[in-house]
Amino acid sequence: MKIIRKVQEMIDFSETNHQQDKLIGFVPTMGFLHQGHLSLMKLIRDQVDVLIISIYVNPKQFGPQEDFKKYPRDEQRDINLVKPLVDVVFIPESDDIYPPRYDTFVQVEELSKPLCGKSRPGHFGGVTTVVARLFGIVKPDIAVFGQKDYQQSLIIKRMVEDLNLGVKIQVGPIIREPDGLALSSRNIYLDEQQRKRAQEINQGLALGEKLMKQGETDIDQIISAMTELISGHDLNIEYLEILDSSNLQEVSSMTEQVIIAAAVLVDNIRLIDNRLVDVDRKLEE
Ligand code: PAF
Repeated sequence: MKIIRKVQEMIDFSETNHQQDKLIGFVPTMGFLHQGHLSLMKLIRDQVDVLIISIYVNPKQFGPQEDFKKYPRDEQRDINLVKPLVDVVFIPESDDIYPPRYDTFVQVEELSKPLCGKSRPGHFGGVTTVVARLFGIVKPDIAVFGQKDYQQSLIIKRMVEDLNLGVKIQVGPIIREPDGLALSSRNIYLDEQQRKRAQEINQGLALGEKLMKQGETDIDQIISAMTELISGHDLNIEYLEILDSSNLQEVSSMTEQVIIAAAVLVDNIRLIDNRLVDVDRKLEE
């Protein structure tokens, strides 16, 4: 396994591999890796000749009051974890990703507005900007993103299509702890008691899914049952919405697949989670 720290070296490496007709797979990450990240790497390991991951905590996707400075980092641990699985770990420096002359911002407009876009203005613009830049450097044939960041994955797909970036995007399923808590690098912030309460987020989403599958078609009823469960465990809901999974618009009666998406504060720790639900009957308007 090779560690590359320089943008130009990464570009040269990818170009050489493309010249040899090698298929390049890519998993961009912000490090502090867990089984969720590893599952994304495993998803494409056998589909590609060269598997590259990046570790870069992108300042552009954090708001001024957010946790950029204290975002968990452990480079050596990350390297050891992925050693058996990947060919290259790309760990660029910020002044190489955004050199002084850097002046481009990439924004997917409508999909960046709802859900996390409302509560984290500028976040998705920061994500698309860095992902476009990383795609330009790594030039992957396939890239993988996690369903836990469902909105992010839709936005990246839209960006790739709109800009004809020629990268095939795959989305890997959410990996959960045995009690249902979705894996996240930010789970490290939770103390034992907060960790216990956090599992209710998944319980809430599961309740929503169950009600839909039992035939409940009133979105407000479903949201209020989920809200009651989640808030009842001293958790603050930032958003809890049921939207059309294809475009994040409010659901219409003809919607076939919806996403139940939540952002929840466990004290001051913000966690997101979601569930895709196939609705096989009409929802009330
Ligand atoms: O999902 C993440 O970890 C980040 O948003 C990403 C895609 C690596 C861009 O910084």
